[in-house]
Amino acid sequence: MRILGIESTCDETAASVVEDGVIVRSNVVASQVDLHAVYAGVVPEIASRAHVQAIMPVIKQALDEADASFQQIHAIAVAHRPGLIGSLLVGLSAAKTLAWSLGLPLIGVDHVAAHLYASRLHTTDTHPPSEPKLPAIGLVCSGGHTALYLVRSFSDIHCIGRTIDDAVGEAYDKVSAILGLGYPGGPVLDRLASLGDPNAIHFPRSLLARDSLNFSFSGLKTSVLYHVRGPTGRERDASSLSQTDRNNVIASFQQSCIDTILTKLRRAVDQANAQGNPAQSLIVGGGVSANRGLRAALPSLGLPVHLPAMPYCTDNAAMIAGLGHHLLSTGHQGSLNLDASPMSAIP
Ligand code: KG4
Ligand code: ZN
Repeated sequence: MRILGIESTCDETAASVVEDGVIVRSNVVASQVDLHAVYAGVVPEIASRAHVQAIMPVIKQALDEADASFQQIHAIAVAHRPGLIGSLLVGLSAAKTLAWSLGLPLIGVDHVAAHLYASRLHTTDTHPPSEPKLPAIGLVCSGGHTALYLVRSFSDIHCIGRTIDDAVGEAYDKVSAILGLGYPGGPVLDRLASLGDPNAIHFPRSLLARDSLNFSFSGLKTSVLYHVRGPTGRERDASSLSQTDRNNVIASFQQSCIDTILTKLRRAVDQANAQGNPAQSLIVGGGVSANRGLRAALPSLGLPVHLPAMPYCTDNAAMIAGLGHHLLSTGHQGSLNLDASPMSAIP
């Protein structure tokens, strides 16, 4: 069964054809990064307009690359939440139009749940990943979300902790802006972190209450700001740092993020054990799951770790089509009455 997935929640217009829920036949992502880079973040109005321009060419390219026609598609899956409303509506309108005119089921997919599903995806050239043993502890760490989940199945997911301020990817993007390294910050900081000393500076780890599974990254970001710019935030700027000092700031910032995430994951695993419902694996997704430091640190938790292949860490439509297939095959009914929502529906 082939599903066409459509993703337009934020600043990437994406379409993908996925077969049987896991085999990616095409994965087209039109990034708007250049349009937003000058503002060091996503400008919603610019994003919506760019989606309107890109959506149909991207869908066409996804079909072409999969060597598929509309007649060979069995359902349309669309990310209809959470995200920027103007952006979501572009993908949703395209998906509704296609589903209605082709007489296909329209499956609404929660973008955050799809990030967790992304570790299931592969191509015909890559090994199928092993299936995660459930229940699992899920972690979505991206530019918009940093949250922990109890995953009983991909259609039975509960949020057990979330950020109370910034997402970790947002902290990467802001630290990158402080250091004058551009947007998005994750990939460049990931590279430079490997050149610095992670123990050079002790940035704070916000762990909140002893048993809290929530996250907070705004204090860390402010701490990096004062370290770079001096006690009033105005003494100097990043250009006064040597390359070694800059790389040490980045490596130490990254170490603080990783330590915080690992502490929270360990707490989640311990709490699940204490409740007599031990987690069998960890499932991780979202843009920050591409981070090499985080990927290397996760196995220390002692559970099997399921991470997406690199193309499926950041926003993509293959994860939408894949989860759409799972929902369809577990009895989910499609509907043309789907609404867009800025909020995730995960309880
Ligand atoms: O999942 P995603 O594409 O969009 C959201 O759903 O938010 O995540 C984008 C975020 C950005 O903040 C970007 O800086 C971060 O993921 N990111 C990374 C890396 N690659 C992307 N953060 C750390 N290390 C990376 N290698
Ligand atoms: Zn995302």
